[in-house]
Amino acid sequence: MKSVEQKISSGNVLEVKDLKTYFFTGRGVVKAVDGVSFELKEGETLGLVGESGCGKTITCLSILRLVPGPAGRIVGGEVILDGDDLLSKSEKAMRRIRGKKVSMILQDPMVSLNPVFTIGNQMAEPVRIHQKLSRRLVWEKVKEMLRLMSIPSPEIRIREYPHQMSGGMRQRVVGGIALSCQPRLLIADEPTTSLDVTIQAQYLRLLKEVQQKENLAMIMVTHDLGIVAKVCDRVAVMYAGKIVECGDVREIFYRPAHPYTKALLGSLPKMEERQEKLYTIEGQPPELHALPPGCSFAPRCPDVQEICKQEYPPQSIIKDGHCTSCWLFAARKA
Ligand SMILES: Nc1ncnc2c1ncn2[C@@H]1O[C@H](COP(=O)(O)OP(=O)(O)OP(=O)(O)O)[C@@H](O)[C@H]1O
Ligand SMILES: [Mg+2]
Repeated sequence: MKSVEQKISSGNVLEVKDLKTYFFTGRGVVKAVDGVSFELKEGETLGLVGESGCGKTITCLSILRLVPGPAGRIVGGEVILDGDDLLSKSEKAMRRIRGKKVSMILQDPMVSLNPVFTIGNQMAEPVRIHQKLSRRLVWEKVKEMLRLMSIPSPEIRIREYPHQMSGGMRQRVVGGIALSCQPRLLIADEPTTSLDVTIQAQYLRLLKEVQQKENLAMIMVTHDLGIVAKVCDRVAVMYAGKIVECGDVREIFYRPAHPYTKALLGSLPKMEERQEKLYTIEGQPPELHALPPGCSFAPRCPDVQEICKQEYPPQSIIKDGHCTSCWLFAARKA
């Protein structure tokens, strides 16, 4: 009863609250995800951006409870899907949720597809597991998914193996598998990195169309701010395991607050200006097992102040729905 009330009152498909996922390694504790919170509504797309190693993939894997063990462990927080806390579910219950209520598309389609099974068999598997349909209906459903993902001649393609398809087609098959059981939440982790630019645009358009049709909530992990501008409604910027800024796409692009977000945007090539050299962010992201005290971006920040090196900044609200954790915006402590 409580979960239903929660669902109605919040209107959120997903609520991630103070999520912490650490890796306990010989070198120390790697705080890959360290207090991440965000929300996602039906039909909404959240872009998760940040430099390599900042914790985007581990955040997504934590939602599905697929953190690589035994070193990796979710040590705190809540992941609430439709009012239910996934972190308190049994492994058996999680298996019913993965692929049915929450699906994930990985970066490289060859990792998700098994080379020795036909496309049809691989697409049919989640449908067989999660939906009690007759054999004939399962195949009909698979063909429908191939059609939905704009794969021509589904009757022929269904019998082919992954190596007989192009990269773009394979990624569409993976998209089809992810969407086959009408999930509530789709997580796409760099889904277009292995595709060339034209196919990339086509694939994103297709994903967006399907998302709108099915009213899916979507998390889009990407390095590419151009993709964020095209497909996302909101953006969460991650740095060293934490979300440093979150807001509507327009707010983030036109009124970025955090110096790291500004630096990320500054490294985008601009069409209207002839640039001799691309801007790069000086320095490297910190090692997550040996984070400096205070704000992790302080050593690279052009606006660094003394307090930044001592204490992590509290979250400040810039405007409705636009938040940042930066001392530039925080009320100073007495
Ligand atoms: N199995 C593991 N053992 C130890 N540390 C790990 C393990 N997997 C990931 N990490 C650490 O967790 C941190 C976050 O990794 P994650 O894969 O989430 O980064 P990312 O933001 O997705 O990067 P990229 O953009 O390169 O995909 C990294 O610093 C990484 O070194
Ligand atoms: Mg990643």
